[in-house]
Amino acid sequence: MRKIALFGTALAFVLTAQWGQAADQPVPDDQLGLSKTSVYDVPDPQVFEYREADPFSGGTLPRAFLDAPPQVPHDIKDMVPITRDNNMCVACHQLPDRVGKRKVKGQPTPLPASHYVDVKANNMHMGRYNCTQCHTPQATVKPLVDNVFGKKPAKK
Ligand code: HEC
Ligand code: HEC
Repeated sequence: MRKIALFGTALAFVLTAQWGQAADQPVPDDQLGLSKTSVYDVPDPQVFEYREADPFSGGTLPRAFLDAPPQVPHDIKDMVPITRDNNMCVACHQLPDRVGKRKVKGQPTPLPASHYVDVKANNMHMGRYNCTQCHTPQATVKPLVDNVFGKKPAKK
């Protein structure tokens, strides 16, 4: 019984010593977040422009993963904001007759069946109305934090 008590005391001592040590080590303020800058810095974000490709210039962008919302490959500057009374995206992309048919390069990709309540009745799901909530245009910028999603892990 005494041995156990002694062991307990020793363990408590070791743990307290370790915790004490961890608490004593300050974390430098430029190591707190993912961006390795000081929390006192107010860095200006890099100025960027979305690509200015015309919708009919053709081509799409790679998807991040299967079933990911495709990135918008064309300029949308004059199409946003999407409002209740004005959604230019549906003007080109709401093509119920083409759902499930082969895609034609350079032609608007039809909204998929998942974006409708009823494709035949051309009844779009209003939860999909705000396209830019999920589909975003792209620009060539250096990411603040590198994204390794989908890349092969580095060999150790
Ligand atoms: C003037 C017609 C037009 C308008 C308006 C338009 N698009 Fe497009 N969109 C296209 C065309 C054409 C393509 C290219 C398809 C291709 O080349 O395969 C395209 C491609 C896309 C793609 C890529 C699809 C894929 O398969 O990768 C997305 C996403 C998209 N548009 C979203 C939008 C959103 C969101 C809006 C509104 C902010 C919008 N579009 C407005 C014509 C249009
Ligand atoms: C809630 C998120 C969300 C919203 C809002 C949304 N989408 Fe999508 N969209 C997706 C996802 C996820 C996919 C890929 C999976 C699928 O096909 O359902 C997709 C696929 C697409 C595709 C590619 C279809 C294909 O066959 O390759 C187009 C084009 C598209 N959406 C256009 C639009 C437009 C235009 C709007 C606005 C009217 C819109 N989406 C609103 C999530 C969304």
